[in-house]
Amino acid sequence: MYPDRVLSGMRPTGALHLGHYHGVLKNWTKIQHEYECLFMVADWHALTTHYESVGNLESYVWEMVIDWLAAGVDPNQATLFIQSRVPEHAELHLLLSMVTPVGWLERVPTYKEQQQKITDRDLSSYGFLGYPLLQAADILLYRANRVPVGEDQVPHIEFAREIARRFNHIYGREPDFEQHALQAVHKMGNKKSRLYLELRTRYTERGDGEALMAARDLLAEAQNLSLGDRERLFGYLEGNGKQVLAEPQALLTESARLVGLDGQKMSKSYHNTLPLRSSEEDITKKIRTMTTDQARKLRTDPGEPTRCPVYAYHKLYSNDHTQAWVEHGCRSAEIGCVDCKQPIIDSVLAELRPLRERARMYQEDPTLVRNIIADGCERARRLAAETLRDVREGMGLSYP
Ligand code: TRP
Ligand code: SF4
Repeated sequence: MYPDRVLSGMRPTGALHLGHYHGVLKNWTKIQHEYECLFMVADWHALTTHYESVGNLESYVWEMVIDWLAAGVDPNQATLFIQSRVPEHAELHLLLSMVTPVGWLERVPTYKEQQQKITDRDLSSYGFLGYPLLQAADILLYRANRVPVGEDQVPHIEFAREIARRFNHIYGREPDFEQHALQAVHKMGNKKSRLYLELRTRYTERGDGEALMAARDLLAEAQNLSLGDRERLFGYLEGNGKQVLAEPQALLTESARLVGLDGQKMSKSYHNTLPLRSSEEDITKKIRTMTTDQARKLRTDPGEPTRCPVYAYHKLYSNDHTQAWVEHGCRSAEIGCVDCKQPIIDSVLAELRPLRERARMYQEDPTLVRNIIADGCERARRLAAETLRDVREGMGLSYP
C-alpha cells in the first residue's frame, strides 16, 4: 500500500472568486495539514477546451497561483506546480492511451454533456476526448489515492480507477515477478527478510490472517525499501502481482456551494462573482446592488428570504440570531434590503481582508511566486519519475 497522498488540480481561468474559495480553496487549506498534498495548475487541461484563446493563459496561471497562496495554501505544507512544467504527465498520458478503449472515453458522462451544452467552442478534438485520461494520468502519476473534487468530477475519478486497474491487470505481473520479489525481500536485511518469509509461509500455507497483518506491518515499517519494492512485497504476500498504479478515490467534502450575486451559479461567464482580490469599495458596491426577492419592489413590500440570494449568504455567514432577524424582518417588511445586506458586507470584507494582505506580498514580489512554483515542479518531477520508472518497466520499456 502506498502512503496517503492527495492530488488536485484547477484549470487556470484567471482570478478566482468567492465561490472557488468556499467550494475548493478552504478545503485545500484544511487538508494540506492532514495529507501530503499536491496542487496542480491544469494548464494543458485548459487547452483541451480553449486551444484557440491562449493569449491570457500565462497571466491566468500566475493570477490563480497568487489566489491559492492568498487563500492560505501553504507552499511549506503542499506542493504547488504547473502541469506543463512536468512533462511526465504527457508521457504517462501517452502510455496509458495504449490500453484505453475509446469507448470508455466516449462513455464518460461529461463528454457528451459538454459537447451538447457548449456550442460556441470546438470540442470535437482528440485532446478533448482524452480529457479524462489526461486527468487520470495527473492522478496516477503521483500514486495519489485521494482526490478532492466536486460532485461533477466523480466520474473522472472512477475512470482513473478503472484505468489503474486495467494497467495493473495487464502489466502488474512482471514475467520475473517472483525473482524481483525475492530480491526485494533481501533488501530488508537479514532478520526482517527471514521474518517476512516466515510470516508469508504461515499465511499462504495455513491461511493465518494474523501472520498476514504482521507481515504488512513489517513492510509498512521497513525503511530501506523503494515504493516499487514495497508494493511488490505487498503483492507477493497474497500471491497477487504488483500494484504499479494506485487506485484513487474521490475525497468528497461538504463544501458550501455559494450562489452568485444574481442567484444563479457563481461563474465568471455570468458576471455575478466576487473576485477574491476585489477592493473593499468594489465588494461593498457589488453586494449593495445584488439581486433580492423580486416581490420587494417597495421598501414596504414584504419579501420571502428563501427566494433571495442575500439570504443564502446569511445561511453561510450569519449566526442563528441574525438569520432569524432576516427572516422576520423581511417577511414583515420591518427591515429594508440595504439593512439586510450590511452584515454580509461586513462578513465578506472581514473574510477577504487577510487574503488581500497575503496577495499583496506576492504581487509585489513575483519572483517569490516563481520560486515556489519552481520548487514545486522540481519536487513533482521527482515523484513522477518514480512512478514512470515502474510504468516503463511494466510496459517493457526499461532498456537503457
Ligand atoms: N478536471 C478538473 C476540473 O475541471 C481539473 C483537473 C485536472 C483535476 N486534473 C485534475 C482535478 C486532477 C483533480 C485531479 O475541475
Ligand atoms: Fe432578501 Fe434581505 Fe431583502 Fe429579504 S430583506 S428580500 S432576504 S435582501
